[in-house]
Formats: sequence, C-alpha cells, structure tokens
Amino acid sequence: MEKKNYKAARRLDYTAPEFTATTTEMVFELADDATVVKTNTRYKRLTTNSKAPLRLVGEDLELVSVTIDGFSCKYKEEAGKLIVENVPDEFELQIENIISPIRNSELMGLYKSNGVFCTQCEPEGFRRITYALDRPDVLTKYKVTIFAPEYGCSVMLSNGNLIEQGKKNGRHYTVWEDPFPKPSYLFALVAGTFDILEDTYTTRSGRKVNLQLYVDRGYYDRGKWAMESIKEAMRWDEDRFSLEYDLDNFKVVAVDFFNQGAMENKSLNIFNSIYVLVDKESATDSAFFNVQSVIGHEYFHNYTGDRVTLRDWFQLSLKESLTVFRDQEFSSDVASRTLTRLKAVEVIRGPQFAEDASPMSHPVRPEEVMEMNNFYTVTIYDKGAEVIRMIHTLIGETNFKAGLSLYLNRFDGQAVTIEDFLCCMEEASGYDLKQFRNWYTQDGTPRVSASWKYDSSKKQMLLHLEQHTPATLKQKEKKPFYIPVRTSFLTREGYPEHPAELPTNGVLVLNEEQQDYLFTVLEGSLPVLFRDFSAPVKLSAPYTEQDFKIMLEHCDDPFIKADSSVQLASIYVKHNLEAASRSEDLPVPVALIDAYSYLLDNISADTDLLLLNESLKLPSLSSMMEFSDTISLDALIRIRAHLESSVAVELADRYRKVYETVKAETPAYSVGNMGQRAMNLNALYMLALAYKESSKAEEASKLVIDHYHNFQSMTDKLSAMQTAVHLDLPCKDQILREFEEKWSNDALVMDNFFRVQATCPNEETVFTVRNLLKHPRYDSNNPNRIRALPGAMALSNPVALHRKDGAGYALLCDVVTYLNDKNAHVAARILTPLINYKRFDEVRQEQIVKYLNKLMGMRNLSRSIYEKVEAALKQE
Ligand code: TRP
Ligand code: ZN
Repeated sequence: MEKKNYKAARRLDYTAPEFTATTTEMVFELADDATVVKTNTRYKRLTTNSKAPLRLVGEDLELVSVTIDGFSCKYKEEAGKLIVENVPDEFELQIENIISPIRNSELMGLYKSNGVFCTQCEPEGFRRITYALDRPDVLTKYKVTIFAPEYGCSVMLSNGNLIEQGKKNGRHYTVWEDPFPKPSYLFALVAGTFDILEDTYTTRSGRKVNLQLYVDRGYYDRGKWAMESIKEAMRWDEDRFSLEYDLDNFKVVAVDFFNQGAMENKSLNIFNSIYVLVDKESATDSAFFNVQSVIGHEYFHNYTGDRVTLRDWFQLSLKESLTVFRDQEFSSDVASRTLTRLKAVEVIRGPQFAEDASPMSHPVRPEEVMEMNNFYTVTIYDKGAEVIRMIHTLIGETNFKAGLSLYLNRFDGQAVTIEDFLCCMEEASGYDLKQFRNWYTQDGTPRVSASWKYDSSKKQMLLHLEQHTPATLKQKEKKPFYIPVRTSFLTREGYPEHPAELPTNGVLVLNEEQQDYLFTVLEGSLPVLFRDFSAPVKLSAPYTEQDFKIMLEHCDDPFIKADSSVQLASIYVKHNLEAASRSEDLPVPVALIDAYSYLLDNISADTDLLLLNESLKLPSLSSMMEFSDTISLDALIRIRAHLESSVAVELADRYRKVYETVKAETPAYSVGNMGQRAMNLNALYMLALAYKESSKAEEASKLVIDHYHNFQSMTDKLSAMQTAVHLDLPCKDQILREFEEKWSNDALVMDNFFRVQATCPNEETVFTVRNLLKHPRYDSNNPNRIRALPGAMALSNPVALHRKDGAGYALLCDVVTYLNDKNAHVAARILTPLINYKRFDEVRQEQIVKYLNKLMGMRNLSRSIYEKVEAALKQE
C-alpha cells in the first residue's frame, strides 16, 4: 500500500500572516484550455525586522513569469508553493500563469461547464487560479479585467462595480472594481451567455440597487421566484436586523455544475441552478421553499461572512452558523415558522446526531482539519445554528440584535474569530457565556434525563434533570454543557399552568451534571421539556403513552406536538425491537393509531396543515437509526413497514376523507397550497398503501395514476410517481415512462426521476440504480446527477445501501473510485454513511471494512477521501 503523507492542520497552530496584499489587479484572457491569468499584487510586510521570503500557494498552475516591480527576481516553485526571496517591505509582484478551465473537473478554481466559465474559490480554490496568499485573513481590493471572444461570452462579470468595457483585438472586455477589501475565497468571475432578469430595489435609506439574475438561455420564467426572493431577503434584513445592502448592484448567477448549494461571493453570488430555477410545472413546493431560503442565506452572508469574515478556516461556523440561523429566521418570518423549525430539527436528530456519533465527529469549532472541504458539515452549519439559537434563547431578541450590531460594527472589514463574536454577545447582553463555550469545544451529543415526583403535602413538583455526554474518539472527558431547557406545564386535563417558580421566558438552565427544580403545580401535572427543541440533546424522560397523547392534543408548541407522535413511534420501536429481530409477529401500534385518528378527526378550517402533516409522518428509517447507539437495521426495517401498514389499514377511511376534502386551490406555490398539497398527498400515499395491503393493488394503482394525470403541479406529479414506485404499484412503469418522455430534456426535473427510483426502500434498488447509471440523461461528472442517483441511494436509502450481501457498498465504492481523481469532494460526501460501520451488525461491518480497505489501497487516493476512510479504519 502506498504511504500517504497528508497532514492535518491544527487550530492552535495558527500564526498571523507575514505579508498582506493591499491591492490586486488581475487580467483574464479566457480560453477553454489555456486561460492566461496576469496578476499584479501589492504586498506589504507585516512583521517588522523580518527578512522572511514571500510564500504563496498554488495548485495545478502553469507558471509563465514572475517579476517584482517589473524586474526579474529570484523565486522558486516547489510542492504547491512559490517562494520569492529577498523581497523589500513593500512591493508589487507580477505573476503570469496559465490554467485550463475545461479540464478542471474538481469544480474548484476557474472551470468551464455547460458553456459557462465560473469560479468557486471557497475554501481554497483561489490557489487554482494563481499563486496567492490564499487564506481568509488576507483581505485585498480587487480590480479585474476579463477578455473573451464575444461569441459565447456576451456576459463577463466579477465582484463589485463595472467601471469600463470595450473591444480590443477582436475580443471584448469588462473591467470590475470591488471597493470592499475581501479575502480570496470571495473572489468570483463568470463569463457566458445567459437570459437576464433585471429589477431594482430601493433600500430604506434610498440607495437604488440594480438586481440582475443570470440563468441559462430559455429559462427566464424560471428565474422569477428567485428574483422575488432577493427583494424579500433585502427587505427582511432591513426590518429584522437593520442591515442594508451596501453596493449599487447585486448579481446572482445560476450554473449547472456546482459542488454545493450556492456561494456568497461579494455582490456576485453563484448558485447551483437547483436553488434558482423553479416554476409550478417543473418544481415542487419544497423547491420553491428552498430557493427562497438559499437566496436568503447567500444574501445574508453579505454581512455575516463578507463584511466581517473569518480569521482562519477553523472559524468556519462563525459565518455559517450565524447565516443559517438568519436564513431560518427569514424562512420562519416569510414562509412558515413551524415547517422551518421542524425541518431543522430533523436535520439535527438525523444526520447531525449520526455525525456526532461517528469517527468524523468534530466540535462546532474543529481542532484538526486535513481537508477543509470535508468540514462543510451538518455540525458546522446546523448544530452551529442551534448553538446560535441557544444564545438567542438565553439572552433574548433585543440583546441578540444589540450583540450582532456590536459585532458587525466593531469588526467591519476584519477577519475574526468565534471568540470575538461571543465577546460581543456577552458585552451587549451582560450574560456570562463562559461555560456556554463548551458547545464550541466539545463534540458529541449530550444526553439529558429527566424525572419528577410530586409532594402532595407541599403541592410541589420536584423536577430532576441530569446530563451526561458519552466519550467520543477524540475526547474522553466531557464537561457539563450549559443547556437551556424551555419548559411549560400541562395539567392532567391538558390545561396550561404557570407556576410562579418558572422564569418568565420559560427557560430553565441545566449547567451541572444534575440539578433539581421546584414548581408549585397541581397534582398529576406534566412538565413539558425542551419546547421548540431548545437544545440539541437527546432527552429521556418517563413520559407514558398517555402523557404524549396529552401533549399531542393540548400543547401549544408545534415542535412538542409533532414530536409527541415521534415519541409514540419510538416507544413502540423500543418495546418491539427484540420481537422484530426474532421475526415474531408484531402487535398493533394502538397508541400511535389513537393519536393519528385524533389528529385526522380534528381537522378544521384553521388547522395548520403543515404542522398536521408533519405530526402524521412516521419517523424516517434514518431517524429511527438514531433512536439507539447500535443499529438493528433488519428489525427497524420490519417495524417501520409494520407501523406504516397498520396505520394505513386501520385509518383508511379517515385518509380517504382527507384525500377527498383537503386540496390545494391552484398548482401555484404558496404556503397555504403547500400545506394542503402535503396533506392531500400524504393521504394519497396512505390510502394507496391501505388498498395494497388489502390485496387491492389495482385500485391503488388506479387512484394513483388518476392523480398523476389530473393534477398539474410538479409536487402532485412527483408525489404520485413516488407513491407508485415506492409501493411498487402496477402503474409505476407507465408513470415513469410518461414522466421521462415529458421531461427528458430537462436535467433538473430528471433529477427527480432518478431520485424517486434511487430512494425506493427495497433491496432491488441497488440494481435499478446500476442500470440508471447508464441512462442517457445521467452524467457521471455532474454533482447534481451524482447526488440524485448514487448519492440519494447512499444518503437516503439505508435499505438498499446496507444490503447484507454488500452490493450497495460495492456500488457506492465504484462511484467513489471513479470520482477519486475527478471530483473527490463530492465523492467524500456520499461516502459518509460508511464511516460509522461499528454501529451495524457483524455481517455488515465486515462487508463495509472490506470496501473501506479497498479504497484505502488505491493509488493516488485523494486527501478528502483518505481523511474519512482513515478516520473510519483507525477506530478500535
Ligand atoms: N459558503 C457556501 C455557503 O454556505 C458554501 C460553499 C459553496 C462551498 N460552494 C462551496 C463550500 C464549495 C466548499 C466548496 O453558502
Ligand atoms: Zn453559507
């Protein structure tokens, strides 16, 4: 086996840069295979009395020349570095180099795909454009000239303001100047031919901002919702946080090849087209919801990320967690607070808890990183956002706003740390966050257990809370966390109670290993704990099925309501896991059926259908896998199928009534329509399942294909198709064929065609996916296609992935091997579900280890895949 000498960088090894760059002028002569990049940078030494050389980093560059102030100089190029000796304290360095956008399959740096030149520089892509101080704490002002042939590149963009354009030697050019100094990771360039949507937005203080949205030609109409979302985001940031846009133009470009969701480059956001292009015929309600939220996310980075940026990549969560928190609040205010919260909680309790329990687990502020691209994780983003939300919970909205203003004012134009942010929050609120910082330094998921007893003579309830965080691979000892426990009380009859001992904001603090709290309440009252999921912990409490029923029926907190039915499912799983693994008959899930029938019987005109629909969703297999430390996969698969069919059969009449009465008025997207459609389509699925379970597959089939034909929104079409495929109904081939015929020239819609089949919870799916990899519309180099097909199987289909014979692992391993030297970052992401093999049974463990070893033995194994495989294999 080849020895890899990839090394991890450590947070504590940070040293300030020896030099900074003050201005950077770049000239790009764009060409597919040989783009010439000429860079003139003014460097300034920061350390006094130092003769240290200037060290720049670069990757995959063909160097043509290096001069200082126009004169030749002494330099050497070695192992990804350019070292320039004997440099004065201040000077201009000119570098000319050549890069090949067309051969850039990693999609980092400057690449060309689908006829469009575009860049992705975060985190370390700028070094693939030219040699530079490619680190976030070096901020420089850019002036960028782009030359290209007019044909094929009618649009040429970079950050900031257009200051000049013209023609020269048969090519045209534009010159852009960004007045804000920025780190290299926020640099952007785009050139191509687009349909352009234009609009304006006038800020609160009267600045008129020109908005431009660039989409593939022919997709003008599909850009309209994104444009509305930009204006909505601008207005919201003014209203909620008093933050106004700071330039005269804001540009958004949609591209078809993109490693992640979108990128917040200053005034030139670049988006994966899935987060821009929607209309009611081609996109689902959730696609509309996601476009609005991602447009918001990138726009909000303009302050939290761009104006105030990061000192080093270990601080990534500083910008991401704060910006996710902000986009969640945006979606909550302009779309649905309930849906936004429930979706966020699902991410934490599924993939984030899984990551926290895995060998790649890391604190919100990591200590060690081998490949930065591997740290764009649910822990950094989503757990980080929960940590910000806890601060908000503890100090309140007013203090939070003051803290954010203080932070943005004090550090404007600087590269700072999470610590700097926390100090501002403390200063503005007067709240001591010393112990709270453990959320940033310790990985793993805290367990909280609760118990209570009642003293009838004193009429008091004694609530006892304990916390414990299991050791993780890198940290054996865990200190207690500072945990906000949002609490309320319900009487036995379900009425709210307000004991005087409960703080007015309803938040108890648990910050020791165990604590007691006294409340004067009625006998038999119920403490409702972690309302709104007030901390990312696992709770165990002696609630009975009856208690959950009371909370489900009477609690005014949407999370608690929806969670109560999850908990009823979870109790059932716990009680029947043994029986299921011995293949014994399973009992009827009485409590769950009771709860569901209550919900279905009490729908009225003012029912929040989004909440109802979420409350009526059985936990996914992936979230059931997080109910306990070890995963009895076969038993869980059996139980889930049994739960689903029992509920469907038992409540078929109720689902029929819902299916017939709850309907969206129009195929257009709106929060109201989304709720009605979601409920209607949930009912359709359950009704079809009920027919199928009663040996009436033909009736199920007719119901579903009629729905497919009669309803026009993509949400309806896709959901009907999914029901047909996942229930293996007789109509499935016809629907798939019709769908494919209609949409085969529409790559984004075809992703749904692939995804529906890749997520079919059936072991045979592995072979379906293998066949679809040969489909003419599949593209093994496009990240969206990869995520829609093998990626969807890997990340959202445990039944197929974890086939006992290892065929799922073999497929995943083939895809990862293919991608290793093409786009390793995308490969490393879909490899995630194999890293934590220790939680599975021995047969699966052995299979997974076999494939991980195979990957480890590869020649030229990339750093990003190596980091994960090595972490997996070295656990004991
Ligand atoms: N900063 C981007 C965001 O959160 C993340 C991102 C976009 C990214 N593209 C990337 C990260 C490529 C790594 C690599 O919106
Ligand atoms: Zn972000």
